[in-house]
Amino acid sequence: MEKRALNYEGKAKTLYTTDDPDLLIQYFKDDATAFNAKKRGTIEQKGIVNNRMSEIFFTLLEREGVRTHFVKRLSDREMLVRRLEIVPVETVVRNLVAGSLAKRLGREEGGDLPRPIVEYYYKSDSLDDPMILEDHAIAFGFATEAELATIRAMALKINDVLRRFLDARGILLVDAKFEFGRYKGEILLGDEICPDTCRFWDKATREKLDKDRFRRDLGNVEGAYREMMERVSH
Ligand code: TMP
Ligand code: ASP
Repeated sequence: MEKRALNYEGKAKTLYTTDDPDLLIQYFKDDATAFNAKKRGTIEQKGIVNNRMSEIFFTLLEREGVRTHFVKRLSDREMLVRRLEIVPVETVVRNLVAGSLAKRLGREEGGDLPRPIVEYYYKSDSLDDPMILEDHAIAFGFATEAELATIRAMALKINDVLRRFLDARGILLVDAKFEFGRYKGEILLGDEICPDTCRFWDKATREKLDKDRFRRDLGNVEGAYREMMERVSH
């Protein structure tokens, strides 16, 4: 697959066009940002971990009947993906209280939820990705009602598949962020699934094994990414 022009440069990944107009190359960087890029840094080897881990999760999900943008991994830091028209909504699924939910509602991190919560955020750097309702997404034309129903059902299924896979490996899936896009009339899962976009806690110790180690200056960031890679590889 021939890499052509820069298509889009994001904070953690870069997309390149290829000789096939339906396919892009997704390149994973070591750059890490938090709080809408107010905090910046590097996590050594993160790009390699996130590329391989995303491959493992996308392959698992495809096997379980979830359609994704993943085609194949090309190298340590590159994967071939279908070119999506991205829906400008980030879908967050939560299984335990953490992060912005703990803060907003004044709850202790780690509290159980009786069932998963699905939240939507409008993808806008200038607005700091505000939380929105389905009604906003429909009113402002980010997605149709039918697309949102599909996105919600897919997000819950993805959460269920990942949660079971991780539980068997001693990891709690606390929450996760998913992005979806349109491809030839279908909604596909896009982006990446990795310690940047999910909260992973060790089931026994509740040790954080994700990007919160970077966001909150907890130390051993690289070690946590390596540990997660190790856990999902078996
Ligand atoms: P939050 O608790 O900060 O809202 O984060 C919920 C989940 O979404 C968590 O697993 C981290 C992920 N996330 C992203 O992938 N990108 C972001 O910009 C933010 C804020 C969260
Ligand atoms: N990706 C985010 C940013 O810097 C933040 C995060 O993951 O916490 O915009």
